[in-house]
Amino acid sequence: MRLILMGPPGAGKGTQAELLIEHFKIPHISTGDMFRAAIKDQTPLGLKAKEYMDSGALVPDEVTIGIVEDRLKKADCQKGFLLDGFPRTAAQADALTKILKTLNMTLNGVINIEMENEELLERLTGRRVCRQCASTYHTVFNSPQTPGVCDKCGGELYQRSDDTLATAQNRLQVYNDQTEPLIAYYEERNLLKRVQGDQEIKQVFSEILNVLE
Ligand code: AP5
Ligand code: MG
Ligand code: ZN
Repeated sequence: MRLILMGPPGAGKGTQAELLIEHFKIPHISTGDMFRAAIKDQTPLGLKAKEYMDSGALVPDEVTIGIVEDRLKKADCQKGFLLDGFPRTAAQADALTKILKTLNMTLNGVINIEMENEELLERLTGRRVCRQCASTYHTVFNSPQTPGVCDKCGGELYQRSDDTLATAQNRLQVYNDQTEPLIAYYEERNLLKRVQGDQEIKQVFSEILNVLE
């Protein structure tokens, strides 16, 4: 299964990705997670990405496209993959189309999780993420069994530095300007599958499985 998960910041891409990769046994390719790992390890990529992520801007295309291309060429992507947070610009979408063609791969679908703006801000500012395994929680909507501790691995939960109100608002603006137009790109290619994001996590998941049938 070769999938793209799209949707505004806070729509639930990471949350649904955790369920989908378990279901389809495919690798989760999240550019945001890759950048955060690089920042944690203080690599040159991390230092570069941090400049942009802190303000909610996008990391430049040439950097982002390169890391996704390298990742898709790894052996584990032969059995499929789930892209989360990529592509995000027209240039990234075009580059991905070319990369997949070279690799002789076709997409099964592009899932767009639709959500209204007001609720997104509440989701983003209440989010907590595991430092060890990047699992996602919410202080109200999806709280861990023990506050501050990951249910899956026992790791410490933290708040992403870009989940402040001001940066989250900026990320929504960047999404509207640069990423939302990609919905039409995939609609034209008959790949787009819409699901409603403002439902229980389990319901969104079963809707995704339905649209993929
Ligand atoms: P990235 O990490 O991709 O962030 P994002 O797109 O802004 O999306 P989020 O991760 O914030 O939201 P999500 O949809 O995954 O929601 P989640 O499941 O966590 O990117 C971060 C930054 O990296 C970018 O700003 C950019 O700088 C850079 N970057 C990344 N990719 C890039 C690219 N391709 N090009 C250039 N730059 C790039 O859920 C949110 C919260 O809601 C959680 O607390 C969750 O528990 C809760 N929740 C989820 N589902 C539900 C539900 N159904 N009901 C109630 N609560 C729910
Ligand atoms: Mg995410
Ligand atoms: Zn964890």
